[in-house]
Amino acid sequence: MSCWSDMPREHHQHEAAQAQASGSSPASTRLEQAVPCVLELRHVTHYYAVRKSGLWHFSSGRRARKLRAVDHVSFTLQSGTTLSVVGESGCGKSTLARLAAGLLSPSEGVIRTGGRRLSSVRAGEINMVFQNPYAALDPRWRVRRSVSEALRPGGFLKSRRAVHDRTGECLSRVGLSPADGEKYPHQLSGGQRQRVCIARALASSPRLLICDEPTTALDVSVQAQILNLLRDLQRALGLSYLFISHDLPVVRYMSDDLAVMYLGRIVEMGPAESIFSAPRHPYTRLLLESVPDFTAMTHRRIRLAGDPPSPLDPPPGCPFHPRCPIATARCRVAKPAYTQHEDVLVACHAVEEGRGGIG
Ligand SMILES: Nc1ncnc2c1ncn2[C@@H]1O[C@H](COP(=O)(O)OP(=O)(O)O)[C@@H](O)[C@H]1O
Ligand code: SF4
Ligand SMILES: [Mg+2]
Repeated sequence: MSCWSDMPREHHQHEAAQAQASGSSPASTRLEQAVPCVLELRHVTHYYAVRKSGLWHFSSGRRARKLRAVDHVSFTLQSGTTLSVVGESGCGKSTLARLAAGLLSPSEGVIRTGGRRLSSVRAGEINMVFQNPYAALDPRWRVRRSVSEALRPGGFLKSRRAVHDRTGECLSRVGLSPADGEKYPHQLSGGQRQRVCIARALASSPRLLICDEPTTALDVSVQAQILNLLRDLQRALGLSYLFISHDLPVVRYMSDDLAVMYLGRIVEMGPAESIFSAPRHPYTRLLLESVPDFTAMTHRRIRLAGDPPSPLDPPPGCPFHPRCPIATARCRVAKPAYTQHEDVLVACHAVEEGRGGIG
């Protein structure tokens, strides 16, 4: 996940130390690496302006309140790898995905790709695969048109013949036939529609795909096929994925690196296998406890009780303290800083104090 090709190493260490001291976002989990970086977020925060009534309101009028959906998120995604973001509904995953895709602008912080600001990226260099393939396709368009339209904004291919060939190539890549290109979305299954969405996302030869819950709306029987397709495409095309999901087994299957998000903030981040085999943050541990496959990891099963607090009115101190079984007085007043534990960064007073046990 970490790559620091555009900054001197001393700077990274300085920034990591600063982040730890200030309780801001993690700088990196593996500072020693220097490999091409496909996506870099630095202290990215996003506020929505919301009316008191709860209705969405995009301009900040006098009666609008600020809802902090993403809170000082920093990470780097290494080329050709998958970084997954996991957390409960409402924790800010989709907002983060849209920020990384350039569909939203951060209120604070910087997003770069290959060392460049996201705003300077050409159309089609970063594409998104959405949760709902039914809503993502225009029902009036044949599949072929949905895919070929993705080639239009960047002017990638000039001749009609080239567009036709490229569209057919993308459909074959995702396991569809040229004949499927003549169909309308309603003539396809959910899995086939998601394949079309992936073909459309691939058309402009992106380096990075942002997948926001790409299998959540699909039947369980086809979820694995889509996940395998994404993995095969990654291997064949050298793609990088920012993969968003609330489904831990799916995340384990897909990820090289993992960021666990709670109320807009990353609370634990590092190599996925390190976190799955030895979760440290109480929230991560309770999330894993809620999945039957992972319960063998701890002796006693403890449930994640209650709902997350509203990001409109976040609790002081550690945002997880109202639900945390090992919260102390310190947790109720002081926001935990990130501390490094082997190759994983964790924001938790108990972990820092060496009293991580919850079971
Ligand atoms: N357009 C919007 N305007 C105001 N608040 C929003 C908007 N979209 C999402 N939110 C709020 O931002 C928070 C994060 O939402 P979201 O990014 O969709 O989380 P997730 O994808 O993890 O479910 C939630 O509290 C949600 O209600
Ligand atoms: S900082 Fe405190 S409240 Fe927050 S997760 Fe750690 S122990 Fe729980
Ligand atoms: Mg979402």
